[in-house]
Amino acid sequence: MDTVSVHDIDFGTPEVNSQEQVTLTIDGFPITVAKGTSIMRAAMELGTQIPKLCATDSLEPFGSCRLCLVEVEGRRGFPASCTTPAESGMVVRTQSPKLGQLRRGVMELYISDHPLDCLTCASNGDCELQDMSGAVGLREVRYGYEGKNHIHSDKDISNPYFQYDPSKCIVCNRCVRACEETQGTFALTISGRGFESRVSPGESQAFMDSECVSCGACVDACPTATLVEKTILAQGQPEHSVITTCAYCGVGCGFKADMKGSEVVRMTPWKDGKANEGHACIKGRFAWGYATHKDRMLQPMVREHITDPWKEVSFDEAIQFAAKKLRGIQEKYGVDSIGGITSSRCTNEETYLVQKLVRAVFHNNNVDTCARVCHSPTGFGLGQTYGTSAGTQTFKSIEHSDVVLVMGANPTDAHPVFGSRMKKRLREGAKLIVIDPRAIELVSTTHIKADYHLQLRPGTNVAIVSALAHVIITEGLVKEDFVGERCDMESFNLWRNWVAKEENSPEALEITTGVPAGLVRQAARLYATGGNAAIYYGLGVTEHAQGSTAVIGIANLAMVTGNIGREGVGVNPLRGQNNVQGSCDMGSFPHEFPGYRHVSDNTTRGLFEQDWGVSLRGDPGLRIPNMFDAALEGSFKGLYCQGEDIVQSDPDTQHVTAALEAMDCVIVQDIFLNETAKYAHVFLPGSSFLEKDGTFTNAERRISRVRKVMEPKAGLADWQVTVALAKALGYEMNYHHPSEIMAEIARLTPTFSGVNYAKLDRLGSVQWPCNDDHPEGTPLMHVDHFVRGKGRFIITQYVPTEERVTKRFPLILTTGRILSQYNVGAQTRRTENVHFHDEDRLEIHPDDAKERGIVSGDWVGIASRSGETVLRALVSERMQPGVIYTTFHFPESGANVITTDNSDWATNCPEYKVTAVQVMKVKQPSEWQKQYKEFNDNQLRLLRERKQADSLVGAK
Ligand code: SF4
Ligand code: SF4
Ligand code: SF4
Ligand code: FES
Repeated sequence: MDTVSVHDIDFGTPEVNSQEQVTLTIDGFPITVAKGTSIMRAAMELGTQIPKLCATDSLEPFGSCRLCLVEVEGRRGFPASCTTPAESGMVVRTQSPKLGQLRRGVMELYISDHPLDCLTCASNGDCELQDMSGAVGLREVRYGYEGKNHIHSDKDISNPYFQYDPSKCIVCNRCVRACEETQGTFALTISGRGFESRVSPGESQAFMDSECVSCGACVDACPTATLVEKTILAQGQPEHSVITTCAYCGVGCGFKADMKGSEVVRMTPWKDGKANEGHACIKGRFAWGYATHKDRMLQPMVREHITDPWKEVSFDEAIQFAAKKLRGIQEKYGVDSIGGITSSRCTNEETYLVQKLVRAVFHNNNVDTCARVCHSPTGFGLGQTYGTSAGTQTFKSIEHSDVVLVMGANPTDAHPVFGSRMKKRLREGAKLIVIDPRAIELVSTTHIKADYHLQLRPGTNVAIVSALAHVIITEGLVKEDFVGERCDMESFNLWRNWVAKEENSPEALEITTGVPAGLVRQAARLYATGGNAAIYYGLGVTEHAQGSTAVIGIANLAMVTGNIGREGVGVNPLRGQNNVQGSCDMGSFPHEFPGYRHVSDNTTRGLFEQDWGVSLRGDPGLRIPNMFDAALEGSFKGLYCQGEDIVQSDPDTQHVTAALEAMDCVIVQDIFLNETAKYAHVFLPGSSFLEKDGTFTNAERRISRVRKVMEPKAGLADWQVTVALAKALGYEMNYHHPSEIMAEIARLTPTFSGVNYAKLDRLGSVQWPCNDDHPEGTPLMHVDHFVRGKGRFIITQYVPTEERVTKRFPLILTTGRILSQYNVGAQTRRTENVHFHDEDRLEIHPDDAKERGIVSGDWVGIASRSGETVLRALVSERMQPGVIYTTFHFPESGANVITTDNSDWATNCPEYKVTAVQVMKVKQPSEWQKQYKEFNDNQLRLLRERKQADSLVGAK
């Protein structure tokens, strides 16, 4: 285990990026720093720590505590070193009798209003007030504690994850600044004046009743035990840390798992994590308790039929059982009758092994991944236009953006740490265009207002993108030199002539999109002429019948305006799950080997055949929806599903469950008995991210280490289980550690050839391509030329989805996520996050609600041509009339019972975002919900019976 110190060095003020340098002398030693660096930071660079309380290097200096005073030769008084920039020739003294006296005076005032309960305080050993008392040599407090003080103030324990104890507050303002500068929520203020001043969430509310989104930035910033994690209160201070990567969303935040032995006591966002630079959101920061939840399944189980009780067995028995079943199925139904699903939650190494198992051991290419249902159109669209399937920038690149276009994404909820970065840039003055049917938070929030919100009708993305392009072409806003130099002119000319047609004008498309033409024209002008313009898009773009076309349209927009290949611009898919980029990179699609190389390519296939020592198939295998169809036809009978809950996450639930019921052997590997496992014949317990070594690749193509902080609770890591299954099927995979799997990936994948664990340890992370040409990775893509050579324009003809509103189904349902829950909720539902969101609600516009006599809190039935479910209503103006919205984090909500089997023409990505529905007030759950309850109760009984049977056996 690679452990590091719990405590980071704090330089007091942020690093300054300036080419200009200044040299000064501090306590007799010369030091050269970037111009603009504070005296405090310059001293720290020399190894001299000037006492401080209100300064910390993640926040701009504030200068309130007056503890960091220094003497500067030739200057009167005692300037605060945190707010005074270092200047050439300056001669600074950090220690003198006078400075000592002043600092002790300051500390004395603080301590006279502070409970001196250090020995029993949760932050004993991790308190800057305590440290500074020692540093300034405070020996007595003359003012006594009899006077006015805050020592008996009430604590606020309303937040499930942290406590606020005002008696310990030194009013340093760090928390307020963290909430503003880092998180961008502005939930805290200092209320009152002078002695009365205290930190206050909102209008003197409890934390839970305020705007606070529980990101924890204030807790990290607090130098005392005023804001402290409840785990620290309960378990005490950590003694070592391990650097790892968040297992929730595609931002891929770096964390320090702060440990006591093999127990996690806190997750602290890693300051050197390049994706997050010391920030986090509620999920990664606090919602990790699921890893030790009582629902964790730790024993392998098997059963002949899904109506049988489970039988607990050893790993060896479970794997032999599975192998025998799979071999039997192939003998009876043919080699193509089985397949596998890789997981975007698992590591690159684990994912790589599952696709290897399918190709080398199952002898077919029937492997697919959950990216099928989210970002497969990104792979197709960016691959066709630019030559590679990935975002073009680093997250940090947004610091150079002048215009930000957010389309079909909700970064503050789904990618919160990047959302905070984006908000910071927007507060600094970057312009914002939001294209979304819903008024997401960014449209209007504290100090941010979208310049243009194109509130289009769901399903009309392609039309709006064409309308934007039409304005750019017909108003002469093309970046001609970029297009001429970097793009394929033949494709450009064809596309330009097509886009320029009147049918693609904002006016002609207004009736389709529902967006006033004037607004589209202004947004197009801003995007094309506003300086560096960056596009960020999400599943609101991809999960449509024309998802791939919309991605192509976005790529066209960036090329025609020259917004590609430098900082501050680019095309950036915001990936949903932690390793969705990685699972695609690792060859999870049925037609591609790792590195996006087609299985029919003889040279590539030969490379893998030689390395793996088997002959491989050159014909693409089945995609997930094809697997379901084939199962219902009777030709697909066995599935190995690692770390995915397809029953809850895939569209048209009843179709999925019918397909699973038609199979003879469903093998599920997961940490919980998820919804899919209830249809399984073999259950293989998985390990959480805290129990495994490996790598995740985030939305910036950044490969980061996941490090084991505790042994796998079930006894084997996920990769070891896949290796054992391969062996039971007669194929040896010889690895002793995931680093050896990465070595194989690097050997066989040109874009990964320079990746190894030693380099990741040294650099922290690298962005692929990482090879001889780019030994330390590639932060920016397509700088001098596109990966495919010349960028290719493709015509994006708008074809309306078949999913139309009718008299029977007059509303459009669209779906999304919220901050505190994650995807199918299997993890977050097993944490205190349920206090923030404990059910999926149906958001409906007041007009539609009124028409149906619905008020907030009513139970409403939602019916589509696929099925029906019942949710509680939330009347909200975030939706436009005619459009309703829900999340899909709870299985009993059945959001995917409603969604249809429509899918993207190129990739089969389901059309989650457009379902025609009717909504009405009801009094009872839907038929599906009743059936679900019965099935679920039955499966939980079968699980309980497994336990009883074993204990009876044990008793004998
Ligand atoms: S937890 Fe985050 S959002 Fe809440 S008050 Fe602290 S910094 Fe602000
Ligand atoms: S709560 Fe902590 S960070 Fe905030 S003002 Fe008080 S001591 Fe400073
Ligand atoms: S933003 Fe994403 S990666 Fe970062 S802490 Fe939150 S869930 Fe984890
Ligand atoms: S640390 Fe400089 S004034 Fe507080």
